[in-house]
Amino acid sequence: YTLVKELFRNTSQYVDKEITVSGWIRSVRASKAFGFIVLNDGTFFDNLQVVINSDLENFSELSKLNVGSAIIVKGKFIKTEGAKQPFEIQATNVQVEGTSTPEYPLQKKRHSFEYLRTISHLRPRTNTFSAVFRIRSIVAQAIHRFFMDKGFVYVHTPILTGSDCEGAGEMFRATTLDLNELPKDEEGKINNKEDFFGKETNLTVSGQLNVETYAMAFRNVYTFGPTFRAENSNTARHAAEFWMIEPEMAFADLIDDMDLAEEMIKYIITFVREKAPEEMEFFNKFIDKGLLGRLDNVVNNKFERITYTKAIELLEKSGEKFEYPVKWGEDLQTEHERYITEKVYKKPVFVTDYPKEIKAFYMKLNDDNKTVAAMDLLVPGVGEIIGGSQREEDYETLLNKMKASGLREEDYWWYLDIRKYGGCNHAGFGLGFERVIMYITGMSNIRDVIPFPRTVNNCDI
Ligand code: 4AD
Ligand code: MG
Repeated sequence: YTLVKELFRNTSQYVDKEITVSGWIRSVRASKAFGFIVLNDGTFFDNLQVVINSDLENFSELSKLNVGSAIIVKGKFIKTEGAKQPFEIQATNVQVEGTSTPEYPLQKKRHSFEYLRTISHLRPRTNTFSAVFRIRSIVAQAIHRFFMDKGFVYVHTPILTGSDCEGAGEMFRATTLDLNELPKDEEGKINNKEDFFGKETNLTVSGQLNVETYAMAFRNVYTFGPTFRAENSNTARHAAEFWMIEPEMAFADLIDDMDLAEEMIKYIITFVREKAPEEMEFFNKFIDKGLLGRLDNVVNNKFERITYTKAIELLEKSGEKFEYPVKWGEDLQTEHERYITEKVYKKPVFVTDYPKEIKAFYMKLNDDNKTVAAMDLLVPGVGEIIGGSQREEDYETLLNKMKASGLREEDYWWYLDIRKYGGCNHAGFGLGFERVIMYITGMSNIRDVIPFPRTVNNCDI
């Protein structure tokens, strides 16, 4: 088959040639004498127009085909000067591969994103979702290219784990035990020794702790895989299953960490603009007006870098009425993050040096003894897309912080080991893959940028 992408990219090579294409019908319009079938073959955002006329032996069958049918078309490829579409194929033979029905859930009209979420197995056949999921694939490619070109080693960290990286207890338990007949010990507690791994395990919330150990062998590494959080927050930015990119660098500090994050975001945007211009135009026109201009600004300007303390000052001086109180020591809420990026700086902002109490145990304690060497990258429209830090490399300090967070030494001895054997300053971050897709496409709900979203009360398709 000649692919539609090829027809769009190298049009002149095909003019007046006989070609065969295959794809799915987006719409059919037919009169007695001739008709038009709009076909999408999956390889390109734009459709191909197929002209059918009554000379075709199955013309009447074709003119009644339902939207969604799969067909194979042979015909002549011709340029259509001055028409809405740049070219078309004049069919000499059309074979029906798979019919559809009048109840096909995607008709030629605008469907709401809410409705399309109920048919996540079919929505990639729409313009918006075809664009979103091709971009998602291209962003993944960009990320691997970025790190591979820099010599980072890609490490596959485990999904099943006995640890809780963020120490927040928001884990999905992994068990083979029969929930109706849980074995109990004498004290009535669940006896995990009888479980598959002989201990309590869960799905990973982050690959960081594992990837840190590889940074101590390969220097610069990254992991890129699914992570799971049982956060009970029903927001447009939280999913129970999401993908995370986590680079980790040995002999690096928080500044190196921010430099890497900034370079990576700029690289991804540039890469996507180059590989998917049609999709990006579509988002700019129909989803988020002004998107492309803003992305240009992101690529061409330095990100802002401010401390958490400065952020609190800005919020206190803002005169805004926030729902959540602004107070040094409290975590920044989405509304605060959006104020800082959208009202104050109008660009991506790194916020650094958060109070130790609101950040994870592994972050390096600053000399002030009150803050840690943390950085979050906040962007307009989405809020936090990256969370990172320089890691605590002092064995005793780390051990004490772990104990204070309720983590048991016997579960994390291996993590402590890397402070014992050739420890060095190191830093890394986690980029929320779905959040960066939202940022680049202008899509406003995380459910619409992951193929099969898993959120509270939704694990259906
Ligand atoms: O800030 P977080 O929790 O950081 C970590 O997990 C670190 N271990 C990363 C590291 O230093 N290696 O999560 C990182 C990012 C967030 O900034 C956000 O973009 C995304 O992961 N994220 C979520 N995305 C979707 N749904 C959720 N429930 C998310 N939770 C975090
Ligand atoms: Mg975070």
